[in-house]
Amino acid sequence: MGPDQTSNEEEPKYQRRIRYKGTHPKNFKEKYKELQPEQYADAVAKIIQKGNTPAGMHISICVNEILNFLQITPGQIGLDATLGYGGHTLEMLKCLNSKGRLYATDVDPLELPRTKARLERLGYGPEILEIKQMNFSKIDQIVLESGLFNFVLADLGVSSMQIDNPERGFSFKFEGPLDLRLNPKMGYSAASL
Ligand SMILES: C[S@@+](CC[C@H](N)C(=O)[O-])C[C@H]1O[C@@H](n2cnc3c(N)ncnc32)[C@H](O)[C@@H]1O
Repeated sequence: MGPDQTSNEEEPKYQRRIRYKGTHPKNFKEKYKELQPEQYADAVAKIIQKGNTPAGMHISICVNEILNFLQITPGQIGLDATLGYGGHTLEMLKCLNSKGRLYATDVDPLELPRTKARLERLGYGPEILEIKQMNFSKIDQIVLESGLFNFVLADLGVSSMQIDNPERGFSFKFEGPLDLRLNPKMGYSAASL
């Protein structure tokens, strides 16, 4: 094709690297390295080593204590009622060792697909892990499908991803709409209420 001819195919858009003032990004959107941990694994590892939580990530609490308490064995059926970033889910899946089934729920329609994709990339697909976007208060509906659970974890609260993202309106550290919904696709934002 000559230089004057145009093509219908969309050219990939060149994206400029986000520039920020100073040596470290301060705003959420400037933290492009932390928001793409697979691409910038070293940078993210350094932040975790310093004891901080990278933006867009959640460090799971009391992992050893929880696993010691649950004593999960291969072949069991379990529920992670609060999937979040999937940190606990991942550790519980390792205990199952490809045998059994883990169900996971979360109401957050923005973070859930990201976590699902991340866990799939790690090899945990629908054959072992069933993720449902729903409120865990409807646990009785899941039990109809799963049968009784051998173990259940509910890590109540919000995730770091929800707090970090100014658009979710959970933090007063950054400017953003006062939303405060775990599922922004349902109900009313705190601002409109
Ligand atoms: C503290 S985080 C969980 C972090 C997770 N354990 C991990 O290791 O990444 C809490 C999560 O529970 C979800 N959540 C809160 N209330 C819920 C409910 N009633 N039903 C389902 N999910 C809920 C939030 O959206 C959030 O993602």
